[in-house]
Amino acid sequence: MPQNVKLLVTRQFPANVLERCQRDYNCTLNPNDTDWPDEELIDQSFGHDAIFFSSGNKFTADVIAALPNEVKILATFSVGYEHIDLSAALKRNLVVVNTPHVLNEATADIAFMLMLCASRRAREADKMVRNSDWHGWTPTQLLGIGMQGKRLAILGMGGIGREVAKRARSFGMIIHYHNRNRLPEHLEQGAIYHQSAEDLMKVADFLSINCPMTPKMKYFLNTDKIKLLPNQAIVVNTARGGLVHDDSLISALKSGRVFAAGLDVFGGEPAVNPEYLKLDNVFLSPHIGSATFETRDAMGFLALDSLDAFFAGKEPLNRIA
Ligand code: DGY
Repeated sequence: MPQNVKLLVTRQFPANVLERCQRDYNCTLNPNDTDWPDEELIDQSFGHDAIFFSSGNKFTADVIAALPNEVKILATFSVGYEHIDLSAALKRNLVVVNTPHVLNEATADIAFMLMLCASRRAREADKMVRNSDWHGWTPTQLLGIGMQGKRLAILGMGGIGREVAKRARSFGMIIHYHNRNRLPEHLEQGAIYHQSAEDLMKVADFLSINCPMTPKMKYFLNTDKIKLLPNQAIVVNTARGGLVHDDSLISALKSGRVFAAGLDVFGGEPAVNPEYLKLDNVFLSPHIGSATFETRDAMGFLALDSLDAFFAGKEPLNRIA
């Protein structure tokens, strides 16, 4: 084990993960569970061979250029890597690894939680009981939209999207998807492919956003796309907040053009557009897609497997640069 390797750990990862870091590496830990600002991150990185961090640390071209030469590899505790300038890393011969696959199921569970909570009005229901505003069952109280027989449009049919599809099949939904490339039949499992994302919007009784955030996809769900959705669609986002143009979605939620939304991620998080907070037809959660004990351990262990391989002179797993 690479105990002579100096590892900078920028966050308080789960106890099992930190234990393994400290067992196998010469670690510098961050005693506070907050992201260091860029300058401090750079200062802290001196004397380290590797940095293990989460998406709160932004490895921009400027930060990467300022890292000392001894830093050879960056390991992000996330599948998403929009916080890292990969071309700057490549230019500097800096290896970068991430943690895909192990969070697919947990994130799909949260997408489903959001679909159910949005379509069945969980926020209003909970509020009614807590506020003692419930005065008994009525035939038309809090009617929502059922999932059975509805078309679920999955934007981004990678590992998470396919897990969402798997759950949706057992709810009797008809799966449609758009992906950069059509999936082979054994992965498609009867899901209907749409070559354009716009076409997919037209069948989205329920829309689940599961694609990576790229500059091209910024504000994907804007007023024009919302106009394509069937009336009273349900929108859920467990990918990245920047994929949604908040003002457009908020106005569609206010008018009822979109029936409800479930959001786990936000542009500029942890800040949340205050208009969402006023709406009863939005169910909100604080970026908990991968937040299970099992998944967070698995993410940490996967990153450490990659670091172990790299420092043993092997090709690291899940190398993205
Ligand atoms: C991921 O793994 O990308 C999660 O969203 C946490 O950043």
